[in-house]
Amino acid sequence: MKILGISAHYHDSAAALVCDGVPVCAVQEERLSRHKNDAAFPAGAIEWCLDHAGLSPDDLDAVVFYERSMLKFERILTSALRAFPRSWRSFPHAMKNSLGEKVWARGIISSQLGIPRRKILFTKHHQSHAAAAFLTAPTRRAAILTADGVGEWATLTVGHGARADGGTAITLLREVRFPHSLGMLYSTFTAYLGFAVNEGEYKVMGLAAHGRPTQVDRVRRLIRRTPDGAFALDLDYFEFHSSTTRSYSSRFVELFGPPRVSYEPIDLDTAEGQRFADCAASIQQVLEDTLVDMTRALQRETGLPDLCLGGGVALNGVANARILAESGFERVFVPAAPGDAGCALGAALYADRVYFGQPDRAVPDHPFWGPPVDSRDLSRAAGEDGLTVEEFADSRLIERTADELHAGGVVGWLDGACEFGPRSLGHRSILAAPHSSEMRDRLNRDIKYREEFRPFAPVTTAESADRYFELPPGGVRLGRFMSGVFRVRPEWRSRLAAITHVDGTARVQVLEREMAPRLSALLDAYGRRSGIPVLLNTSFNVAGEPIVCSALEGYSTFRRCAIDMLVAAPVVVTKRGPSALKSVKEEATA
Ligand SMILES: [Fe+2]
Repeated sequence: MKILGISAHYHDSAAALVCDGVPVCAVQEERLSRHKNDAAFPAGAIEWCLDHAGLSPDDLDAVVFYERSMLKFERILTSALRAFPRSWRSFPHAMKNSLGEKVWARGIISSQLGIPRRKILFTKHHQSHAAAAFLTAPTRRAAILTADGVGEWATLTVGHGARADGGTAITLLREVRFPHSLGMLYSTFTAYLGFAVNEGEYKVMGLAAHGRPTQVDRVRRLIRRTPDGAFALDLDYFEFHSSTTRSYSSRFVELFGPPRVSYEPIDLDTAEGQRFADCAASIQQVLEDTLVDMTRALQRETGLPDLCLGGGVALNGVANARILAESGFERVFVPAAPGDAGCALGAALYADRVYFGQPDRAVPDHPFWGPPVDSRDLSRAAGEDGLTVEEFADSRLIERTADELHAGGVVGWLDGACEFGPRSLGHRSILAAPHSSEMRDRLNRDIKYREEFRPFAPVTTAESADRYFELPPGGVRLGRFMSGVFRVRPEWRSRLAAITHVDGTARVQVLEREMAPRLSALLDAYGRRSGIPVLLNTSFNVAGEPIVCSALEGYSTFRRCAIDMLVAAPVVVTKRGPSALKSVKEEATA
């Protein structure tokens, strides 16, 4: 059975193809269109998926859209009517921006793909999140919690899943409904702190580490816990339900002070900068406390040892680590793409297992479902530009790259299929030595062009992780897709300065060899040189651009920033000759 899943028209569109119960490919539209967070109908992603699998649209048994458009239409209409007359300006915008095309999803999909309307199915938004989390995790039974800004009506759901050869069940126990939303609460602070909503949430989490949670009591005035264990927002502080231009109300500003102007830098040495950092720390703590509390109750209720987390809120690695440590669940699974892009895969898997009742199949436990890299393109382009192009057998390529990293070089690393999801997990990465704060500053300044408070993430091998990071039981699993933030062991912090955040933590990727053998070998080779098999691993892009996908996009980024070496096995490209490398080595050891 061949099933195409689609998520589109909100942010981060994607397509995923499931054949005979197993994912074949999945890619976000932005990786192909090169528009960051591209929300358009994912024509490019669909075309690539079908091409890659050698299928035409006629071969598909079903196309599944990741949410029920009419339910979302109902929600926006109802919210607008409830907020009338405050909402009379926002309603036409909401109609146009957030659902215009969605309501007509069946017609659009049918006409774009030329397939009959009866083949087009819909899942509920949070069913897609739940399926993306549960059906990709190596567990047969688990509790499930999904949380995001909003789908149709639901903003948070709790339930459980069971996989068996006789049938798969994903059971929803309860849901919290719009406008009461943890994701919207966090996004409101994202907007208030001057970051782009749906993109800047991780900046709030990064900023939080610089602050103290001095305003927790104020944040708690915005969100009240309800007797049933859920929560409700005090809508007097918000406007997202009645406005498309502002998410917080004047009462919110009275409580927290003037919002940050987005283009003004955050100076943490000033009282104003510290106020914003404290505000970030406070919303972060309230989010964590609420999630820990709800997952603890879910663990008691289900008695299960495993938890699958889905929805955009599951990108919050600090909260995930606290859930693992404090909820009572032994293992916490977060998929590589917990956000809406991942819903394309979730929707397809849900249709396969639940709607069509197909037998359970193990899903390969990795994030590499996107377009592969073609090293010949890199070789050709770099050769035409007169750069040094070399080819190596794998073992020599690893040694050569480890030498470069040990000499202080920054390496662009392209390997195999592109990651599905927002994180670079070793196939489209910028790698560097993790030891000095100078390296962090250099990357922020010359390569990533981004705020100085932003930390970089490390990658290390599963065998070495515990030596450098304080991993709780289950930490290796949570670190598989970089979904948890853990403490760097104090004795290593000065030697891991580029990846240790100001509060002594790091969002570490814990790499098991079979997931990315080449990167794993590189970590070993680097460890033999430096004594520490840890590398800084950041996404291969510059600020404002999607992560690179093809070899040529990697090459273009390499040419435009201060990356020293670009690797797409077996090809290695450098901007300088071998003699120049020596001088950098000398500089590094001087
Ligand atoms: Fe969502």
